[in-house]
Amino acid sequence: MTRRLLVTSALPYANGPIHLGHLVEYLQTDFWARFQRLCGHRVVYVCADDTHGTAVMMRAEQEGRAPEDLIAAMSAAHQRDFAAFGVSFDHYGSTHSPANRAVCGEIWARLRERGLVVERAVPRLFDATRRMFLADRFVKGTCPRCGAADQYGDACEKCGSTYAATELVEPRSVFSGATPELRDSTQLFVRLEPLQPFLTAWTQDSGALQPEVRNYLKGHFLDKPLQDWDVSRPAPYFGFEIPDAPGNFWYVWFDAPIGYVAATAEWCEHNGERLDDWWRSGDAEVVHFLGKDITYFHTLFWPALLHVGGFSLPRRVHIHGFLRVNGEKMSKSRGTFVTAERYLAHLEPEWLRYYYASKLGPKIDDLDFQTDEFVGKVNSDLVGRVVNLASRSAKFVAEVGLSTRYPDDGGLFAAAAAESERIAAAYDACDFREAMRSIMTLADAANEFVERRAPWKLKKDPDRAGELQDVCTVVLNLFHQIAVYLTPVLPELSAKAGALLGSDMSRWSLAHTQLVGRPVQPFQHMMARVEAAKVDEMFTPEAPKPSSPQLDAEPLAAEITIDDFQKVDLRVAEIVAAAEVPEAKKLLRLTLSLGGDVRREVFAGIKGAYEPSSLVGRLVVVVANLKPRKMKFGTSEGMVVAAGADGEVYLLSPDQGARPGHRLH
Ligand code: 2FM
Ligand code: ZN
Repeated sequence: MTRRLLVTSALPYANGPIHLGHLVEYLQTDFWARFQRLCGHRVVYVCADDTHGTAVMMRAEQEGRAPEDLIAAMSAAHQRDFAAFGVSFDHYGSTHSPANRAVCGEIWARLRERGLVVERAVPRLFDATRRMFLADRFVKGTCPRCGAADQYGDACEKCGSTYAATELVEPRSVFSGATPELRDSTQLFVRLEPLQPFLTAWTQDSGALQPEVRNYLKGHFLDKPLQDWDVSRPAPYFGFEIPDAPGNFWYVWFDAPIGYVAATAEWCEHNGERLDDWWRSGDAEVVHFLGKDITYFHTLFWPALLHVGGFSLPRRVHIHGFLRVNGEKMSKSRGTFVTAERYLAHLEPEWLRYYYASKLGPKIDDLDFQTDEFVGKVNSDLVGRVVNLASRSAKFVAEVGLSTRYPDDGGLFAAAAAESERIAAAYDACDFREAMRSIMTLADAANEFVERRAPWKLKKDPDRAGELQDVCTVVLNLFHQIAVYLTPVLPELSAKAGALLGSDMSRWSLAHTQLVGRPVQPFQHMMARVEAAKVDEMFTPEAPKPSSPQLDAEPLAAEITIDDFQKVDLRVAEIVAAAEVPEAKKLLRLTLSLGGDVRREVFAGIKGAYEPSSLVGRLVVVVANLKPRKMKFGTSEGMVVAAGADGEVYLLSPDQGARPGHRLH
């Protein structure tokens, strides 16, 4: 029976480039979608950029451009990368689209009708100088858990803990540097508790979820009352304004998954189809692929929205793990945070497609990219075991073509055809690793045959030309079967195999079709070997940017001893307040925190070089034991260290991780 499948991958954020971690998801979804198409099922694979929220807003602000401009550029870059890796979307949309606004409005109206939206006043941080509520990412301060300075209002990058922005110690607005005050903001919440029976039934009994996900939800969320979900954010926010709550916007996680439906609506619009046939029809199956970090959004909130909106529930939610590189988390400083673009500058996309396929099972395990294994699999499996079948046989039959009757092969073709269902079942279950393993076993059997029948020897004996043609016919048929089975993972290699043998590679059932009495095209190069050095090069951190032009060296000061140096107590300090000294031409009055409750007031000659408000929260280096100096405007209790000549001033700041009170040594 032909299935109708609406397939999605999670929508990538529009605040950064696609990287190898993202590709774990898009590539496996693509394997699955291509496999289903190959089996003759109807697949609509949609995706979109996830464009709303503070991260995009902030990046646009930093880059001095409109968010619309930023998301247009990001979408183009994302689509370029996906195309280069062969990800076969049927439609790629954006959550910032009229279609998405319309579906959001529709679901919202249903939530209101069902009485599931409630308003509540929530204390939030407010920047009185800018007259705005501050989203979590617009507040910085000291982590309430570990004391790390300069952390965002939602999570600490140092210790990884998450908290409410109101818990930050010494919070300040990233816009003005002002200390925010608490004000009540009226927020809109979606009540989930009334949907508890539905969510329990769907998560536990529908069969849509992997067993470990089912149990996780049962043990972590469904065993207690479900909390209301805060779905609004006060202006300014880059998103959709809530039609019946002016000044409030839907939180990015409200409109992001709705983007799946909106992208489908756009696809329908372009293809003369009806949205309801895909999202409100018992015979279309919605299948989501996503990473484990966003399980909760897709298995509680999202089904709740779909249920209330009268849309179909996903038939399957396939959740996968994270990418690690050589056993470690991806890291920018180690060079293992590799963008799609960087990968493409060094290596071939199909190598990664095969490597990921050979590692991905049906469970949520993380996937570890290991350089040696990558090189081994590409070179020995793909080039050594698969492509070699064609390169060692095609040339001997380029002139005569394939035998007119399929020769006796001792049952090899039949055995490989008989594997078709098992391999298909593995693909369908997202057990790509098992599918690849089975296919490589077939390649081994085919290679054994080549070795045994040695066409290169037959070639030397003109009396055995018929036998040579038969042997090559068998080998090329086995190669063709393998290429059919690999089509979802390696569409380019498959197309080259098809061109060689005049097969369109369009159906899974071609693995049962014997190719006979047809020409064989001249063998063209199919796949290069990978060199480990190239992989290492890709993982080598980028060289630092060329340094700034050097100054002429000033003569150095008279030599001092280490003891002289140690007399100077240099400390890391945080600027907690900065103000103009109106009467002074060059001075700013800085209040510094040197850790604990040690405070110092220092006059620094940096007026004109820095806006006082931009300094609040910044870490600097201070000479802490300088004898206080009485000045016209007060006493200066130290000196802030800065560089620069001829009127230039550059404050020195420590690297991330340093904290007020650290002594320099
Ligand atoms: O985690 C993320 O990258 C989100 N942008 C995924 C959104 S998926 C869906 F809900 F839109
Ligand atoms: Zn912390």
